[in-house]
Amino acid sequence: MSLEEIDDIQERRAIERTLAQFDISQETIQKGVAYFIKQMEEGLSNETYSNDFLPMIPSFITHIPDGSETGLSLAADLGGTNFRICSVNLNGDHTFDMEQFKRKVDTTLMNGEDATSEEFFAYLARQVRYFLNKHHKFYLEKSESDLSKNPIKMSFTFSFPINQTSIDKGTLIRWTKGYNIPDAVGKDVVTLFQYALDEAKLPVKIVAITNDTVGTLLANSYSTLTQSKTVLGAIFGTGTNGAYPEKLENIKKLDPKIRAHLESKGVKDMIINTEWGSFDNKLEFLPTTIYDETVDSETSNAGVHLFEKRISGMFLGEIVRLVILDLHRRKLILNNYELGEDTLKNMSGGGSIRKSDSSTTLISLTNYPRRPNTKRFSHLVYTEWSLSTENLSRIQVDDSTELSVTELVLEEALHINTTYLDRLIIKKVTNAVSQRAALLASIAIAAVVLKTGRTGLTLSDDGQLVQTKHNDEIVEVGVDGAVVEFYPGFRKTIIKGLKLTQLGEQYSSKIEIVIAKDGSGVGAALCTKSYIE
Ligand code: GLC
Repeated sequence: MSLEEIDDIQERRAIERTLAQFDISQETIQKGVAYFIKQMEEGLSNETYSNDFLPMIPSFITHIPDGSETGLSLAADLGGTNFRICSVNLNGDHTFDMEQFKRKVDTTLMNGEDATSEEFFAYLARQVRYFLNKHHKFYLEKSESDLSKNPIKMSFTFSFPINQTSIDKGTLIRWTKGYNIPDAVGKDVVTLFQYALDEAKLPVKIVAITNDTVGTLLANSYSTLTQSKTVLGAIFGTGTNGAYPEKLENIKKLDPKIRAHLESKGVKDMIINTEWGSFDNKLEFLPTTIYDETVDSETSNAGVHLFEKRISGMFLGEIVRLVILDLHRRKLILNNYELGEDTLKNMSGGGSIRKSDSSTTLISLTNYPRRPNTKRFSHLVYTEWSLSTENLSRIQVDDSTELSVTELVLEEALHINTTYLDRLIIKKVTNAVSQRAALLASIAIAAVVLKTGRTGLTLSDDGQLVQTKHNDEIVEVGVDGAVVEFYPGFRKTIIKGLKLTQLGEQYSSKIEIVIAKDGSGVGAALCTKSYIE
């Protein structure tokens, strides 16, 4: 399948130019790795958070599990789309048993106009009650005085950027992934949740707040049957992020008293939640198209978490939708559809997409001539977020001759009828956008692995590969999230991307990317056992 099928050479070139905006050269990848490490170092040294470097949040988790841990813990997990509660029984032999309950978070509570933290956390507490009632009724039946003496320990996986000052305190820096409850920003989310649990008279005490990536790292360390160390836990789902163990001496911003206390107990490392979604918020390195700018302008956290907005599941479908609209405006696809008046209202920016310095010049909708004998688009084509990343994964694997799966997906998601050529082009767009995402992901992975020095290699200040004193080990990267798990070819392209980094073909083979199921459940349960008071 190739664009050669497009007869008009001008048109073909225009499409190729649009697709080429998503290309990333090897040079860019390598510069990205060096810059990523620099942003990690800045984040480890600066006490105050800034959008200019990675947040690098100390997790206060200092023990990496080895599979021998035992006991029952409760974990509440607020990730992207869902709120989940689980009780995990660790068997001490790398295995565990788990009961769980999951509910999609109501969008009015999540980002509605009147969303408040009080209502939101009260809602979470109601879910905890439901879960206990279903799976651990015993606790609800104990007398109040028994329980206040001995409440169930729960860890709270809260996968948003927080300023964490101890194992059980974290003030929200900002919401991401479509959440927007303004009054919670700047507050300690453990206090908010604990208050709601107490109000609901539930016998539960939150003992740790953690991030899904920290959980993924712990879960993989607990479950793995290999001798390899897990050097990174990463999520590629609705959002993207990674956590890794850093030497205490390198976490310069850590309160000296805390460091001294931990050192006196023999602690050497602490897990850092990088919040790499916020890599390069200043856009010094990240490839930027007008579609990325528009997606960013549609989000409630515009201007930040820009790396995430090029990689994760929440955004890929939206990028593709905007490219489809743009190609249509430039008469390159879907030529049997007109641009109706309603288009002007529904497009972001009131009709014309913001200008970028990309090679494509977008025609303002207001100047665009009507075409005769054309149909109107369904409103879905203009509806933000109407094309999901799950839709893209179906397009990506479509290998039927007429691209009939793609035809169906576009009909279902956007209510458009397409020609074979339209579909061919849209499939190419899908491929370009997802390839870019996976290659960017490999920058983050390579940078963290090189920062740890675990494979026996690190980068010098001028970006050259140098040997470290560490052992020359094979390392594991535990990954979780729908994109890396289910998006066709995503993991393969990450591996391809790793070969293009400074690690090259030879050293990138020392990194095993392992699907680490359920970090935010099992990993969170492990958190209740992985810190020093
Ligand atoms: C977003 C959150 C981060 C989380 C990631 C994956 O980037 O800010 O905390 O780990 O999504 O869920």
